Amino acid sequence: MTDFLTLDDLDFKNKTVLLRVDINVPVDKYTKRISESKRIDESTITIRELASKGAKVVVTAHQGRAGDYDFLPLDQHAEVLKALLGERFEFEYVDDTIGIAARDRIESLQSGEILLLQNIRFLAEETLELGPEEHANGILVSRLSALADLFVNDAFPSAHRSHASIVGLTAKLPSAAGRIMEQELRYDRQAVTTPRHPAVYILGGGKPDDNIKVLQHGFQEGIIDKVLSSGVLGLLFLVAREYNLGEETVNFLRNKGHFERLQEVRDLLVKYGQHIDVPVDVAFSSNGKRVEVPVKELPARGVIKDIGEGTIQIFKAVIKDAKTMVVKGPPGVYEDSGFEVGTKEILEAITQSNGFSLVGGGHTLSAIQRLNINEKGFSYISLGGGALINYLSGRSLTALEALRQAAARYKAGVV
Ligand code: 3PG
Ligand code: MG
Repeated sequence: MTDFLTLDDLDFKNKTVLLRVDINVPVDKYTKRISESKRIDESTITIRELASKGAKVVVTAHQGRAGDYDFLPLDQHAEVLKALLGERFEFEYVDDTIGIAARDRIESLQSGEILLLQNIRFLAEETLELGPEEHANGILVSRLSALADLFVNDAFPSAHRSHASIVGLTAKLPSAAGRIMEQELRYDRQAVTTPRHPAVYILGGGKPDDNIKVLQHGFQEGIIDKVLSSGVLGLLFLVAREYNLGEETVNFLRNKGHFERLQEVRDLLVKYGQHIDVPVDVAFSSNGKRVEVPVKELPARGVIKDIGEGTIQIFKAVIKDAKTMVVKGPPGVYEDSGFEVGTKEILEAITQSNGFSLVGGGHTLSAIQRLNINEKGFSYISLGGGALINYLSGRSLTALEALRQAAARYKAGVV
């Protein structure tokens, strides 16, 4: 399946292994506490496997970005990891990345022990968007690679970044993809490269730009049989079909800059209109109360926040027979009481369908958790945000390219 190495291809016993994970998680703006930890939970799969195989595991990761409120040290992540790994594993955290403290701890690691380094983005060099070779010549990669024998990249959500610890280490060390990376690509491929038909894309949420990119690629490649549109994308399709949504909704769309994408939305309708289902009714807020209106009776007398019951029924019938589903963005403003109906009913219908379902986007996961929908009902909930969008829109992922090059060198005996 792969043209890069996996954990099955290398011998880790007594080797110092640099493991890049993505445990960049949502943080509460005010308390600065981690609010959701799925990525941390999942990261332990590869960490455990490497430690169990006798590696000296050096874990490197980031949180947030310089200037953002969630740009934090990894103390909390370390606490969560320590608890998850339990007594069986020796785990330690060091508040350093490429300094003497980190070097000394790495050099004294024993087989089976795990060390988490400080937020790698505390070094500005990490986030420079450079190629593998350029990063390989930098201080960050030179120092870290000098202390390690092998590199494992398990950071799928960062796979679209050309950052030092994502692409640079592969140029210096024999490198493999970790289990999360492998698993994520297996499911993403199932949705995009080898989908069973009918393949239905269920797209909502507040980021129509991402949805448009995904649709352009999916239609061009003949992947998508049907789109069920909701959220801002659904509204833009309605505008493109000349419906007057009403002053409040039009102002909202204009203020957010969403009309800039109207031409692309129109083009999609012209080319692929028969494959695109737009809402037949919507729910708007009238003094905070839910009021439904068929699109034929628009304009709405308040901001539109959900799809209506008629649309829900039509969408559910399509979902029932779908063989492949890609789900991105909630259909409605589920956080507001009364407007969670569409999101809840559609997500529940997906869990009940026999088709394969890939769910992406942080907001969709939040909706699933908040509305108490059974996470196990979906085939796979992606850990990626931007990386998944890149994958779904056919763009190459820099991390994978780097892993492929590393594998070619390894097989040729160059590294
Ligand atoms: C993500 O959350 O999308 C990844 O961790 C990458 O983070 P970034 O978008 O700040 O580069
Ligand atoms: Mg981010």
